[in-house]
Amino acid sequence: MRQDRSLESIRTSAATKRRARRTPWPALAAAALLLSACGGGATGSPPADSPAAGSPTAGGGASPTSGIAYPEGPITMIVPFAAGGPTDTVTRLVAKPMETILGQTIVVQNVAGAGGTLAAGQVAEAPADGYTVLMHHIGMSTAPSLYASLPYDPLVDFKTIGLVTEVPMTIIGRPDFEPTTLEELVAYVKANADTVTYANAGIGAASHLCGLLFMSAIDTKVTEVPYDGTGPAMEDLAGSQVDFMCDQTTNTTEQIKSGGVKAYAITSPERNDALPDVPTTTEGGLPDVQVRVWHGLYVPADTPDEIVQALSAALQAALTDQNVIDKFADLGTVPVSADLATPEGHTAKLQSEIELWKAVIEAAGVTPQ
Ligand code: MLT
Repeated sequence: MRQDRSLESIRTSAATKRRARRTPWPALAAAALLLSACGGGATGSPPADSPAAGSPTAGGGASPTSGIAYPEGPITMIVPFAAGGPTDTVTRLVAKPMETILGQTIVVQNVAGAGGTLAAGQVAEAPADGYTVLMHHIGMSTAPSLYASLPYDPLVDFKTIGLVTEVPMTIIGRPDFEPTTLEELVAYVKANADTVTYANAGIGAASHLCGLLFMSAIDTKVTEVPYDGTGPAMEDLAGSQVDFMCDQTTNTTEQIKSGGVKAYAITSPERNDALPDVPTTTEGGLPDVQVRVWHGLYVPADTPDEIVQALSAALQAALTDQNVIDKFADLGTVPVSADLATPEGHTAKLQSEIELWKAVIEAAGVTPQ
């Protein structure tokens, strides 16, 4: 991956690629047919000890009859935020059983920057061969409304693999922050707006979105401190370098339970079994601050459908893994149902969320940057 590329150059190149994709290209179509007819391209068979070897169903890999032998080498799974944060945690938990199912190593790589859009831009123009997969979250649907010039189109430049999980967020404060309840937090932020600091993971991140809803609900703006992810932001919050933030339970449950940070509310209609003592935003008087951070896997748009199906089958199987279910429960979430861990379920969610957040962001008076 070319991590040093600027957003501008990615934008230009992605736009060129989009234009090319919209133009029928007979040579490419012919090459695809040739690959299929030859029973594979420049690739050989899966390793003998691979679960996919010799059985089209054992590993959920591309069927031998499809003409594409996949996977035959390590897969890179890109996380668009810093290591040690909630997206990183979810990715590593799911990648583990997917490795076993696919019979190949999955290398998790963090490509943080620009609220997750840097990584998405890179994956949009990665080779469409199934060896570069993006784990992204709700930010895939909010970025089109928050960025004036996004270097990719979520609905055009990717194929969806399936949803993974939906995670509620928590509004949390540094351990020595004066407010102790959500009502006190609102009063304190309103009274000290010029000095209070709010940590987030950049424009388009879930923590940014939740902050927007919170500020909009209380009609107040504070200084935002952007990080490459809420992993590093959490370290600074627990160290009292910033005042408060909003983050997914997959990153906050342990810190809240150990007293490392203060919890004010959970952004779901109901309380969470992992954090039964944390009241909902509705209980605390902010019913409009509702966010559930859904995650899903993507590949570049030109990826063959057989590879998409192989990855999707592996994801669906991984979500039934008992370790994944147990770890998710400990962190306040559950795997999505099988029908949502599919390209169809994921695309429907992406489309509806793009529309939903466009309306919410416009109503909050936010102009794209
Ligand atoms: C992360 O992994 O750091 C988070 O998902 C960032 C965010 O969206 O708030």
